[in-house]
Amino acid sequence: MCGIIGYTGRSQALPVLIQGIRLLSYRGYDSAGVSVWRDGELRVRKDKGRIEELAPRWDPEELAGTTGVGHTRWATHGAPSQPNAHPQAGGAGEVALVHNGIVENDLALREELEAEGVRFSSETDTEVLAHLYARAFRGDPVAAARELLRRGRGAFAVAVQHRSLPDTLVAVRRGSPLLVGLGVRENLVASDLRALVGRADRVLVLGEDEIAVVRPESVEVYDAAGRALEPTARPMAGIEQDLGKGGHAHYMLKEMHEQPERLYELLAGRLDLARGRLRLDDLPLSDREWRGLSRVDLVGCGTAYHACWYGARFLEVAAGMPARAVMAHEYERGSVPLGPDVLVVAVSQSGETMDTKLAVEAARAGQARTLGVLNQRESVIGRLVEGVFDMHAGLEVGVASTKAYTSMLAALLILGLRACGARQPDAGRMTELADALRALPDHVRTALARGAEAQAVARDIHRASTMLYLGRGLDAPTALEGALKMKEISYIHAEGYPAGEMKHGPIALVSKEVPVVALATQGPWRDRMLANVREVRARDGEVILVANDGDAEAGRLADFVLRVPATHPWVAPLLNVVPLQLLAYETAKRRGCDIDQPRNLAKTVTVQ
Ligand code: F6R
Repeated sequence: MCGIIGYTGRSQALPVLIQGIRLLSYRGYDSAGVSVWRDGELRVRKDKGRIEELAPRWDPEELAGTTGVGHTRWATHGAPSQPNAHPQAGGAGEVALVHNGIVENDLALREELEAEGVRFSSETDTEVLAHLYARAFRGDPVAAARELLRRGRGAFAVAVQHRSLPDTLVAVRRGSPLLVGLGVRENLVASDLRALVGRADRVLVLGEDEIAVVRPESVEVYDAAGRALEPTARPMAGIEQDLGKGGHAHYMLKEMHEQPERLYELLAGRLDLARGRLRLDDLPLSDREWRGLSRVDLVGCGTAYHACWYGARFLEVAAGMPARAVMAHEYERGSVPLGPDVLVVAVSQSGETMDTKLAVEAARAGQARTLGVLNQRESVIGRLVEGVFDMHAGLEVGVASTKAYTSMLAALLILGLRACGARQPDAGRMTELADALRALPDHVRTALARGAEAQAVARDIHRASTMLYLGRGLDAPTALEGALKMKEISYIHAEGYPAGEMKHGPIALVSKEVPVVALATQGPWRDRMLANVREVRARDGEVILVANDGDAEAGRLADFVLRVPATHPWVAPLLNVVPLQLLAYETAKRRGCDIDQPRNLAKTVTVQ
């Protein structure tokens, strides 16, 4: 994902910017760039590629200067290329601007600026902001920054410098995170705490719609109305120790809380949420090839397998595409009928899982087409497949996968929409889904804010020795994923089932001692789910229901309700898993388990 670093002080800016870019690299990027103020001009160097290749090409003499900005870009609007890399120039080069996030109304703004005679040199939404800033600038950086907040829609973090202000950086934050690092006679701007380590003593977290004017010996902060604010900086020392966990008690909790932003960036990067158009030009398979497929096999293990299950059901339900999920270790060379009309999608957070790698090799040996849904493009599986849908979920440290799971579902949903577009396009449905996806990050945020509900349930169930999780349709894999989270980190035995399977055996387990977690939010499956819940109640079972806000009937049936906002049934699994992640987390915490490193488990399983 994109990263921002800015520096103004007494030292040379270039080495600080290069170091910042290196520290931001873990987020993944495909191009990088810097701009430095020198002799009355902003000197920009940028290109696609890794910082190790680019930095040696940036001449410290030509870029000598003490104020500048740097950026790592992960392509959303426009391919990775020199013109599309940041910084983007505004006006006639008097502005250099770097940006994280997405400007949702970029096309309307671009048309408006073009009509006023502005010539664009990139395909990025960022360049719109650079020109807006240049046009609004009349010597007052705050007024120009307010114009960005007034005109831009979406989530964005921006660092910008203007030729006429040699030692000044301006930072603007809406939605995407942005920090100001305070040092001794030097100050920095960064999108990530990591980029400030070793340089800043204190850090100031910019609030929503705030603007910072950063100079070597001063930092001023304003709100969107231009009123001066007096924010408090926190000492870096305390934060640094906790750097990786971002202030949370565990990586798992931090990673759960990253989901709204990760989902937003993945979805908005791949789908024009305003117009419902997909951006998947980097992936193989033309419309004709999608139409020519006879089947899609999705392969993965554990959590990734649950994502495959969702992906397969979604392809069938939404695109009428025959599809199935197969545990990668069951996908053995020679035992699966394959050919060029079969697409095999390998789903893996690490991209290194041996079983999944072997499944891809089996697919290749059978002449099947291959795609990877991965969090690491440069990985063993990434190098084997024809194309990679890079989830860019960021580093996942907690052994129990959380943000990678929701990112997998989002990626598979987008792939499903790609198949729909080729096989049975439906503009109305696309708009409906784009609306639901636009609201999803906020819905996930709402669900995450309800940790107290999960705590109350955890208090009640933490001594259980067995649990059942039930879901139907697209939420059947959510039930399995909820159960997996519970058993992985709390060591409570938990089984997930498609609810229809209950009467065929598992109902024998139901008793007062076995809490049953049931997912009952999705339109078409809700009523049948509530019928299953009544069967559990009739046998004295304790019921914990994941239900929509305002669903009174669900509330009456359950001992506990974990509420989520209502959404489109196809999108619901991306949201419904969140209370189950929280429940596993709170239960494991009560039981005093090692949440981030549960016993016997490894984050990456590179053996069969
Ligand atoms: C569960 C979990 C594992 C992994 C599985 C596959 O929380 O993390 O089940 O999902 O080992 O790993 P990847 O996705 O790296 O292939």
